[in-house]
Amino acid sequence: MSKLIIANWKMNMSANAAMNFVTKISKSKNQIVIASPYTFLKRLKNQLPGFVKLASQDVSIYEGGSKTGEISAQMLKEAGCSYCIVGHSERRIFKHETDEEINTKILNLLKFKITPILCIGENIKQKKMGQTNKVLVGQLEGALKGIKKIGNFVIAYEPVWAISTFQTGKIKKSASLDNIKKAHIFIKNWLKKRFKSQSNKIKVLYGGTVTPQNSPEIFKLKVVDGALVGAASLKASSFNAIIKFN
Ligand code: 13P
Repeated sequence: MSKLIIANWKMNMSANAAMNFVTKISKSKNQIVIASPYTFLKRLKNQLPGFVKLASQDVSIYEGGSKTGEISAQMLKEAGCSYCIVGHSERRIFKHETDEEINTKILNLLKFKITPILCIGENIKQKKMGQTNKVLVGQLEGALKGIKKIGNFVIAYEPVWAISTFQTGKIKKSASLDNIKKAHIFIKNWLKKRFKSQSNKIKVLYGGTVTPQNSPEIFKLKVVDGALVGAASLKASSFNAIIKFN
């Protein structure tokens, strides 16, 4: 089975570095997506090889109008985005995003047929208190509220404690294969209960220090449909090493 592998560049890369990166992407039998900063989305779209799709890292809760600094789902569609990340833990933490806002963003994206990549995951305190499943259910229920027809949809399980950004100064650490497997099974079972047969189309990815070293083992897990990659997606060499999986 091919995997969906998404590069989340976060607030990194210059336009020139991004264009240079694109010329170096190796062909892959997996589905590849790049979530780029806003300013060079359109330029990137024109340069990407056909097998690589474009994603935004966020979208406004508003649909348009007098909302200085915001970017609407319609604008992202126009820029060529097929996907959009919502609810990343960095935004939940730094921007205090709520499940209600994330739900609104998802509804906006669905109107423009942009596939949401919904990030969910517990923090270290919640993990230690054995609250992982409870947190996941709360985030899923909140973000997917009122949605009956789900269509193409991506969930990224990103335990906050395994994201390298939050490990500054410490050894980078990913979740164990057992942790990943358990969480993915739990999420998939929840989706099946909620969306019945429609859930077959929903992809569940793992994110949290996915690297060329650990990606082959993670991808071997059947319940893992792919990965959302941060730091290791910033260099073509390490990203190519991840996407060569087959
Ligand atoms: P890292 O791969 O750098 O841990 O980032 C994960 C992430 O936040 C992807 O969205």
